[in-house]
Amino acid sequence: MKNVYKDSMKWTSHSEAETARLAARMATNLMPGDMLCLHGALGVGKSVFARALIRALAGNPALEVPSPTFTLVQTYDTAKGPLWHFDLYRLQAPEEIYELGWEDAMAEAIILIEWPQRIQSLLPPERLDIHLSETSGGGRLLQLDLIGSKKDMSL
Ligand SMILES: Nc1ncnc2c1ncn2[C@@H]1O[C@H](COP(=O)(O)OP(=O)(O)O)[C@@H](O)[C@H]1O
Ligand SMILES: [Mg+2]
Repeated sequence: MKNVYKDSMKWTSHSEAETARLAARMATNLMPGDMLCLHGALGVGKSVFARALIRALAGNPALEVPSPTFTLVQTYDTAKGPLWHFDLYRLQAPEEIYELGWEDAMAEAIILIEWPQRIQSLLPPERLDIHLSETSGGGRLLQLDLIGSKKDMSL
């Protein structure tokens, strides 16, 4: 990712459509090797964000993007190369991530992870953390934190 973003920034989204626009904008600068970790409670909008980002990268606004709640991972071919979408809510132990092809994903893909705290100790040092939470007005706060030393992501 190019360096447009600061180390940390906040964004308030007032609607699902606004979240989708932010995700689509962020998608334009992503490249293989980039990881986005989506933190936040059930129903806060992680999948909404992921779906919009994947559709933008795939260049298909109608693309079916199922939540990988049970499969734990879903892969896509995009203009920027492979994208792996993980939902680790049901992961029993961090090491199980290797059975899902984690090392292949790390080697070649853009990675999106819901419930990244399930593999906290295995997360790479360079990544973008996005913490989502509900605002009092029913919107969503997205807190973006660039983790690592490179600081060269642009979102
Ligand atoms: N500003 C917003 N951004 C994203 N989702 C929103 C927003 N406001 C309300 N929502 C709603 O919140 C729900 C989020 O669901 P989902 O993305 O599946 O959550 P999660 O994956 O975090 O469990 C959706 O029903 C969506 O319509
Ligand atoms: Mg979800």
